[in-house]
Amino acid sequence: MKDISDFNLKHHNTFGIDVKCRRFIEFDSVDELLQVVNSLTDVDKPILVLGGGSNMLFTSDFNGTVLHSAIKGHVAVKTDEGIMLRCGSGEIWDDIVSLCVSNRMYGAENLSLIPGEVGATAVQNIGAYGAEVKDLIIKVEAVDLQTGKLCEFTNEDCEYAYRKSKFKGEWRNRFVITYVTYKLSDEFCPCIEYGNIRSELDKRNIVTPTAEQLRNVIIDIRNAKLPDPKVEGNAGSFFMNPVVPKSKYEELVAQYGNIPHYTVDNGLEKIPAGWMIEQCGWKGKSLGKAGVHSRQALVLVNRGGAEGRDVVALCEAVKHDVKDKFGINIMPEVNII
Ligand code: EPU
Repeated sequence: MKDISDFNLKHHNTFGIDVKCRRFIEFDSVDELLQVVNSLTDVDKPILVLGGGSNMLFTSDFNGTVLHSAIKGHVAVKTDEGIMLRCGSGEIWDDIVSLCVSNRMYGAENLSLIPGEVGATAVQNIGAYGAEVKDLIIKVEAVDLQTGKLCEFTNEDCEYAYRKSKFKGEWRNRFVITYVTYKLSDEFCPCIEYGNIRSELDKRNIVTPTAEQLRNVIIDIRNAKLPDPKVEGNAGSFFMNPVVPKSKYEELVAQYGNIPHYTVDNGLEKIPAGWMIEQCGWKGKSLGKAGVHSRQALVLVNRGGAEGRDVVALCEAVKHDVKDKFGINIMPEVNII
């Protein structure tokens, strides 16, 4: 276990913001976590649970205690329903996807290379290329910071929606996730109709991909569009794609012609925030030390030495312009602390 005072979080947030927390505790097991939780006092508060820091923007030092899981390990059990894979919350998510693909456990390929750790997948409901982790999650185990007790949640308990869960809303900072169980399949059913997956497969002369080939294509698409946080700090998509009534979408089509969109249901359409931000002229532009990525306008980046408030100022300017041009409010996906 690590227990460090006045700890620098620069390497614990993918934006690379140089901030500190008063106390940093990293636990390796549920027993260690229970011991920590039951010894915390008011002096240690507030408490922040941090995963890989890939969806966090720190705007100042954190004057409290950061808890970080280093619970590792995974166990796969074959059942009639599928393969149940129970993973420690401190595992790197993409290591789990890689393990699944190499061991004939299918269903997670399209979520390849998403940064972050297993615990955070259950909070953020990570998603990409037509897949969302909520469709794999069976069980979430956690310790309740209020009672100091272990608890378990089913998928329904977590109330998942697009980039949302109860852990991100009503339960924010209440539970420390210890294990997540995913349901995978031993039958590979590739999901390749989303975006440019099919055209990328065509370029490689692949008609029916193997899971490895699909994973590699997803990795290549992501690498081509998304900045590497080790080179340029960022937290992936900064904004969520707004869901608007169909009438609003039709109004936009009348004005801008065919615009990219995803149909949510009969009455609702999701409009890519990245497209709107690009239309506002922000793609590749900077405001101070923060910028809008040149290949994907949905991603805000640290151009070097940015503070959290620089990114927030850019976020506000972008939001303002999108509202002004399209009459749509875009909201951050990233947790601003
Ligand atoms: N677009 C533009 N300009 C841009 C960016 C996008 O015109 O600068 C257009 C694209 O041409 C496309 C549409 O917008 O027609 C959608 O773009 P893309 O497929 O790149 O995906 P996205 O909607 O921008 C979402 C997720 C990503 C995920 C991709 C692929 C959200 C908030 N983001 O982005 O997730 O990788 O789909 O499935 O839903 C993340 O969460 O960190 C993340 C990267």
